Amino acid sequence: MMSRRSPTIVLLGGEGIGPEVVEAAASVLAALLPQARFVRPPHGEEARAAYGEEMPAPAREACLAADAILFGATLQHTRAVLRFLRWGLETYANLRPARTLPGLPSPLKRDAPVDLLIVRENLEGEYPGREGDLAELAARWPELRDNLGRPLPREGLFTVRVTTDPGTRRVAGIAARQALARRARGRPGKVTVVTKQNVLRKTDGLFLDVAREVLAAAGVEHDHLYIDDACRRLVAAPDAFDVVLTPNLFGDIMSDVAAELVGGLGVAPSACIGDRHAYFESVHGSAPDIAGRGIANPLATLLSSVLLLEHLGLAAEAAALTSAVGRLLAEGRVLTPDLGGTAGTGEVARELIALLGD
Ligand code: IPM
Ligand code: MN
Repeated sequence: MMSRRSPTIVLLGGEGIGPEVVEAAASVLAALLPQARFVRPPHGEEARAAYGEEMPAPAREACLAADAILFGATLQHTRAVLRFLRWGLETYANLRPARTLPGLPSPLKRDAPVDLLIVRENLEGEYPGREGDLAELAARWPELRDNLGRPLPREGLFTVRVTTDPGTRRVAGIAARQALARRARGRPGKVTVVTKQNVLRKTDGLFLDVAREVLAAAGVEHDHLYIDDACRRLVAAPDAFDVVLTPNLFGDIMSDVAAELVGGLGVAPSACIGDRHAYFESVHGSAPDIAGRGIANPLATLLSSVLLLEHLGLAAEAAALTSAVGRLLAEGRVLTPDLGGTAGTGEVARELIALLGD
């Protein structure tokens, strides 16, 4: 059993700017938690050379034994790493908060503060990836009809979109828990379920029915929006949202929009939570165009580290890091080029460590 202040944290840089931002965040975490143990298992291209696979047994075992995992970003050589972190560890709820941060420009017309949480189903929908030829599907399933009563076209490709009752039930349970926790902190504690149930009647019909059942049983106030309307409202009046619960692909898209409202992908964090494991990563990608130049913004990974600390029950450390990031942004002296500054990744980390000591 770990003592709370000496957790084992696995660092997986991934690709592109991933390793740079993860090491920057790790240096700040080490300053906050001097007794933490950091493990850096081989993964990605390096592991392929040594073990013949991107996510070899030592890396998988390190993740299974870790108290938490911090992940950088993926491009083409770390797809297997992401697959393991999501499906291997069954991290079925992807929590993506969007909160107004000091000093960052927003494209919004209104300046009401944004403080919302997108709970994205993380393992179902289109994401497991079952695609194929329509001709083959039509040959095997000749009676399949669309809403207009037509058989499958003979040409083209299809994808399978999966929604299950247990898969929806468990992520709705996380959304309910998050809403209740937010209510305890003075937020509305309301969940907006977002689907395209008017078109995807079966899959999103099931998602919506199960979500409503779970939220009602938990005593959580809830309503429903279609994804197109939800995106429009997100831009027009983001302060009207508290918690959003939505299927995988909609959550992927909506969380990028939400991030842009409060400073962009450079500052957008996420937590992927399961019943036994959790990993933390920025919403942004690997930004190969600026990789290796030491100018990547580490703040999204640092704000993901705040979620990591909260997940480990280290509320004081999480609050200290949040306030250090807030001061860094408000002062605006030490920022990376994407935020209009001239500082490097490491300088931002060092400045944060200095701010922690103040
Ligand atoms: C994200 C990313 C991933 C996703 C990609 C890299 C597969 O965009 O975490 O949002 O779509 O889930
Ligand atoms: Mn995405």
